[in-house]
Amino acid sequence: MRTDTGRVFRLEDYRPSDYLIPRTDLSFVLSPDSTIVTARLLIRRREGVAPGTPLNLDGDGLTLRLVEVDGKLLEETEFSAPPESFVLHRPPAKDEFVLTIVTEISPSTNTALMGLYRSNGVYCTQCEAEGFRRITYFLDRPDILSVYTVRIEASRAEAPLLLSNGNPGATGELPDGRHFAVWHDPFPKPSYLFALVAGDLGAIHDEFVTMSGRAVALAIYVEHGKERLATYAMDALKRSMKWDEEVFGREYDLDVFNIVAVSDFNMGAMENKGLNIFNDKYVLADENTATDADFANIEAIIAHEYFHNWTGNRITCRDWFQLCLKEGLTVYRDHEFSADERSRPVKRIAEVRTLRAHQFPEDQGPLAHPVRPRRYREINNFYTATVYEKGSEVVRMIRTILGREAFRRGMDLYFDRHDGEAATIEDFLKCFEEASGRDLSQFTLWYHQAGTPNISATSAYDAAAKEFTLEIEQSLPPTPSESRKRLMHIPLQFGLVGPDGQDLSYAAVEGTAVEDGVIHVRKRRHSIRFSGVEERPIVSLNRGFSAPITLSLEQKTEHRVFLARHDSDPFSRWQSFNTILTEATIAGSKRILGGGEAEFEPVIAEVAGAIVENENLERAFRALALTPPGEADIAREIGSNIDPDAIFAARDALVRRIAEANRDQFLAAYHRLEDNGLFSPEAASAGRRALRNVLLDYLATTQDGPDIASAHFGSATNMTDRAAALAVLVHRHCERAEAQDALHAFEVTHGDDPLVMDKWFAIQAAAPGPNTVDAVQRLAAHPRFSIANPNRLRSLFGTFFSGNQSGFHRADGAGYRLFAETVLEVEKRNPQVAARLATGLRSWRSLEPKRQELAREALVSIASTKGLSADLSDIIDRTLA
Ligand code: ARG
Ligand code: ZN
Repeated sequence: MRTDTGRVFRLEDYRPSDYLIPRTDLSFVLSPDSTIVTARLLIRRREGVAPGTPLNLDGDGLTLRLVEVDGKLLEETEFSAPPESFVLHRPPAKDEFVLTIVTEISPSTNTALMGLYRSNGVYCTQCEAEGFRRITYFLDRPDILSVYTVRIEASRAEAPLLLSNGNPGATGELPDGRHFAVWHDPFPKPSYLFALVAGDLGAIHDEFVTMSGRAVALAIYVEHGKERLATYAMDALKRSMKWDEEVFGREYDLDVFNIVAVSDFNMGAMENKGLNIFNDKYVLADENTATDADFANIEAIIAHEYFHNWTGNRITCRDWFQLCLKEGLTVYRDHEFSADERSRPVKRIAEVRTLRAHQFPEDQGPLAHPVRPRRYREINNFYTATVYEKGSEVVRMIRTILGREAFRRGMDLYFDRHDGEAATIEDFLKCFEEASGRDLSQFTLWYHQAGTPNISATSAYDAAAKEFTLEIEQSLPPTPSESRKRLMHIPLQFGLVGPDGQDLSYAAVEGTAVEDGVIHVRKRRHSIRFSGVEERPIVSLNRGFSAPITLSLEQKTEHRVFLARHDSDPFSRWQSFNTILTEATIAGSKRILGGGEAEFEPVIAEVAGAIVENENLERAFRALALTPPGEADIAREIGSNIDPDAIFAARDALVRRIAEANRDQFLAAYHRLEDNGLFSPEAASAGRRALRNVLLDYLATTQDGPDIASAHFGSATNMTDRAAALAVLVHRHCERAEAQDALHAFEVTHGDDPLVMDKWFAIQAAAPGPNTVDAVQRLAAHPRFSIANPNRLRSLFGTFFSGNQSGFHRADGAGYRLFAETVLEVEKRNPQVAARLATGLRSWRSLEPKRQELAREALVSIASTKGLSADLSDIIDRTLA
């Protein structure tokens, strides 16, 4: 484990490397405890650099065996190899030389899962961001592009399959039951895209013919016996390849495309050139093991990694500060793909929910950072919702500002101009400015300023003059180390909704740039006057969530109800009802804190009933509209002095109130939506299940709730329904025998499938109330749990720390003590995953004072532990700062 050196990396310190590595030949002689890596590097001195300038390579935990320069063994005095680098004191004065380095590593003891490690007996790698330096000494930075040839040698019995990047080359047998394979990747790439897999795996094969008629051999490698579970992923891959050709004109460029699923993986997946490596959770699926959400995630992540081939691999990042250049853009691309493959409005609502649940709290707490950060201590901690999700929103706003055509021209220019390069955000933006003739300089602040902007708006209608005025004000709250903010360019899609639900037209507009239904907010205040507005409109603002902001818009409930029923923009319809539910819950929690009871206006239950019946709306949309805001969403809206118990009670009361008022109607709809027994993972079928399962959650709070839920569980013919019923039973009726029986039945059926058991762990970890701390502790001792596996950790502890408001934030601080203990224990094996778990307390300052103090104590107890990793101390220090 690399302990924290406190070293800070700064964007402004970037300078090109003195040396380049145009060619990299690697040879691996694999063995679990002692793998020998021989790197033959063609080193080229960059033009203008003085001959003899020392060469400084990165390394991490390597055992150096041998060094040669141009075939000549080096003396000990000619180099030094302290723990984190290799320094060649006086490289040859000529322009190019060959440096050969032999290192020894131990994949079987690599528990950090960075570099070369073993997962279920399979050798695999994870090099992004800085894992390659755990394999050999190298210029391990993304602007060093090299052409790789890789030779892998292993025991044939242990590893019949030998894979690396690029196209396959020679293979052959060796003495003692060993064999080898050579791979060559003609596309220069940074070291973080290097990958190797060796093991005994099953596969499914397919083929894709590209737009220019080249056949690409596709394969997905999985554990033997699980081949059938990869068919959905394969289908998603072929659809992704086709979509990227049609929508972005991007063709695949190698003869093969391989995906490998492994069960021990720190993140979701990795876009290594021609050899994507996946967390098996995002590959394996059938109706009995995966939920509809899993299918949607698989489709999105398969697409995401594939799309990286152009946005990330062909054009990579100059340095890690530019991470959003590939991640934000690629998330934008996978969102568009899912929107095209499924329902665009439903996808948009789901995206916004994710953004608000993950990015907003980050942006509004101590870990806030710009989409393009200016400094970091540990880059692995910057694979964040801000870089990914907000990064995608920023690209989406560019499209909104430019329009689809100019946006596409900008993308084409970007691909054209920067193919084969390591680029920056400035390079990217310039392409859109040139392609559109627009000035994006103010817009650029979205990349540089942290924090969620707020727009507040008021409106007035003058019936006599037929004028509608809108007063808009922007503000951006301070974030860590950025107290003063500059004014942003915020594109707000809007409509003036008339009494019949249609958008009203207006004759003219004064006060600011309004173009094609978009208000371009650029100043602090705008007073916008629409003339020739025949009737009193209700303003619908930030349609489609065109900008990732918070909106303070005083609006009467009756106006929100009107928009929830009639807005022509589906996102805004969803938003209006969601806001009604959120405001009602907040008001309810205040009354509860004041010693009273939550009360709700009857119109809320009425609208909910009308949504269920409205056959003009997609079922998936109706399901989302009826899903009440989560406890964390409500806490975020309240902002400070949070008491999670009051929020829980208010939300629970709201659900009961809606269910009670609509009981017969919900039950009838629930039965109408029954399964016909034939499963399809497609959006329409998933939408039916989603609506039925939301209704189940309401019905579970009514009389016979436990019976309905346990019947649902017992008759489920797919995992979506089964897991939904289990969650309802465990979250709403955990004291009842029905809940315990269902848990037991689930375990008996799925005990041998770790990915399915992850759901069993997560459902229990998400159970509200004070008993869950103890339950989580008990589950950590369950034979199917393992502290070594990131998926298990995320299911049990990740869910509990980040997804269970009332359970984790128990008033006596027991949750926080478990947090500190667990984070420190996990850190010993895997600092990266420990750091991720530790973000569970990032919003501690918004808690009420007693909980705040207990949370602080837990954080301080971690901070005062000796020898913390860079990963964990970075998170804890910033959280406490
Ligand atoms: N580039 C990967 C993706 O597709 C994420 C890899 C992150 N890995 C890490 N160790 N930080 O989004
Ligand atoms: Zn990515």
